[in-house]
Amino acid sequence: MSLPVLPALKRQSNSGHWRIVTTILGLESSCDDTAAAIVREVGGRREILASVVYGQTALHAEFGGVVPEIAARAHAEKMDLCVEEALAVAGLGLAEIDAIAVTSGPGLIGGVLSGVMCAKGIGAATGKPVIGVNHLAGHALTPRLTEGLGFPYLMLLVSGGHCQFLIVEAADRFTRLGGTIDDAPGEAFDKTAKLLGLPQPGGPAVEAEARLGDAKRFAFPRPLLDRPGCDMSFSGLKTALLRARDAVVAENGGLTLQDRRDLCAGFQAAVADVLAEKSRRAIAAYADRGATDPAFAVAGGVAANAAIRSGLEALAVERRVRFVAPPLSLCTDNAAMIAWAGIEKLNAGVIDPEDLVARPRWPLDTSRPALIGSGRKGTKA
Ligand code: KG4
Ligand code: ZN
Repeated sequence: MSLPVLPALKRQSNSGHWRIVTTILGLESSCDDTAAAIVREVGGRREILASVVYGQTALHAEFGGVVPEIAARAHAEKMDLCVEEALAVAGLGLAEIDAIAVTSGPGLIGGVLSGVMCAKGIGAATGKPVIGVNHLAGHALTPRLTEGLGFPYLMLLVSGGHCQFLIVEAADRFTRLGGTIDDAPGEAFDKTAKLLGLPQPGGPAVEAEARLGDAKRFAFPRPLLDRPGCDMSFSGLKTALLRARDAVVAENGGLTLQDRRDLCAGFQAAVADVLAEKSRRAIAAYADRGATDPAFAVAGGVAANAAIRSGLEALAVERRVRFVAPPLSLCTDNAAMIAWAGIEKLNAGVIDPEDLVARPRWPLDTSRPALIGSGRKGTKA
């Protein structure tokens, strides 16, 4: 595969030393966040110079989920503004950018296309190279941006569209140990919120209610814990919640505030238990592969949930593995992770023009069979 011609990376003199400086503009538009960011690596040190996110929550609120056509139009309208704002915040012009990295999949194809077209337009106008980045790789490589974590490490990627355990071996090498066979947990949180009349995105709303609820009142299942391995399932939990809600309504004629809190608490505890137990198995499987000084990292919107996060952290302490959780703003969708993944690809010399083809599906580990199911971002990768 022929590599694009890359301009020589700038070198800066600092008290007599020459250092490699790479400055990348990142674009993200694969779901319901339009984002642009500028990340710089100076002699191995990483800096986020700007990270701008235009969320679309209000646009999709009345539909109870992301409407792909509305999302695509909003991305097309907002991406230019996002880029201008990121450049302004960083105090840079396009001339000072070395390359543009853009999410080219997996995701809702209309949104992915508008990001890729925008990146190609900037590339054509400036002569800068454009790097196609896998959105999941962006999440998976985030702990290296925030903590400088070394390869390899174990990652639980848990969001509205995805849920999988990955061994992150290199910028372009991922081994999937398991994942959801149906819904992603964030999707289950969003559906739970909808069933209980709570606002979207459902995760934060359900978490807030759960804080005041009794997790023991409703007995929700812990799907697939009776089966070996790291695969998970969350669609049955949502059905169990629907049944529990309907039973309360049938008996009492409606839901009280406390009923709703207890339902949220029970649901959240079930998700947290499943994620913790499956993480225990993933850590064991990772150790079996001879991992020395193992690290367990989390990323994705659901990793913002305090109860889930603290369950995973406690597990890491118990198993004596280092726990790494990026700050919340870098757990949810953002373009800094895409810019960083672009730098990783540059550093590893794994830029492939084929990666610039916009695609709805793009599994990180192509050696494993595709996961079943269809989520907020379309068919799962
Ligand atoms: O990573 P992300 O921003 O987008 C995807 O790639 O999907 O994740 C968004 C998902 C939504 O489903 C949202 O409800 C969920 O993450 N989420 C949460 C919390 N904050 C966001 N789920 C549970 N608890 C939270 N605090
Ligand atoms: Zn994401």
